[in-house]
Amino acid sequence: MEIHIVDSAETGGIVVADLFEEVLRGAGEQGAVLGLATGSSPLPAYAELIRRHREEGLSFASARAFLLDEYVGLPDEHEQSYHRFIRENFIDHIDLPESAVQSPRGTAEDPVAEARAYDERIREAGGVDLQILGIGSNGHIAFNEPGSSLGSRTRVVGLTRSTIADNSRYFDSPEEVPQRALSQGLGTILEARRIVLTATGENKAAAVAQLVEGGISARWPATVLQMHQDVTVVVDEAAASGLELSEDYRHARTLRIIERGNAR
Ligand code: GLP
Repeated sequence: MEIHIVDSAETGGIVVADLFEEVLRGAGEQGAVLGLATGSSPLPAYAELIRRHREEGLSFASARAFLLDEYVGLPDEHEQSYHRFIRENFIDHIDLPESAVQSPRGTAEDPVAEARAYDERIREAGGVDLQILGIGSNGHIAFNEPGSSLGSRTRVVGLTRSTIADNSRYFDSPEEVPQRALSQGLGTILEARRIVLTATGENKAAAVAQLVEGGISARWPATVLQMHQDVTVVVDEAAASGLELSEDYRHARTLRIIERGNAR
């Protein structure tokens, strides 16, 4: 894992946007396949990518995108659907065609079949080149709550009380938060070629400490990322505050910057 401890969410957004730009520019004719996440954590990265699109001509025209998850029962147009969230906060402001963006359909008549078909659609697209992730305060990624199988595939999941409480800020009351979601599985996420996870704030500190330094365990689903060969973790000082070896990560980052400079 590459750990970047940054001074602000905005700086974190620039680090994440750099990875997206690298993948977009490096993609062949068939275009990059982006794995997108909702939640507040990726917003600074999306804002930076929108700026690069507008001011520097960064194009998403030949890319395709897959969302991580969707609430069961919410139609695409619902104010709190993740499909709508990603359109309003990202897609509507860049040149990625809306038809190139897929999410698990929360209103599918047969959510179990929809989950299976979603994995298949990702596979048919050639797999995800770069997946952005946030992390829940209980260590979940996408909606893989504690106890999720580390090899899980896209499926219908029940949300924990802590996630419902965390996400109720977007709804009028906790009772309105759907209790089930369709979520890419941990095994699905691990198939992305590159992964970047971003987190800010003290309420993520325990989850980030486990993600980076804990033992791999279904108790903290994000720890499965330790098994992936290309993961970048971008965290601010508060989210990094539970890390035992933060000075080592800063040192390693300085060395990498020097090495890259030498290679140019
Ligand atoms: C939700 C989403 C996750 C997201 C998490 C954290 O539960 N399913 O994909 O990472 O919330 O959200 P935030 O970034 O707003 O803290």
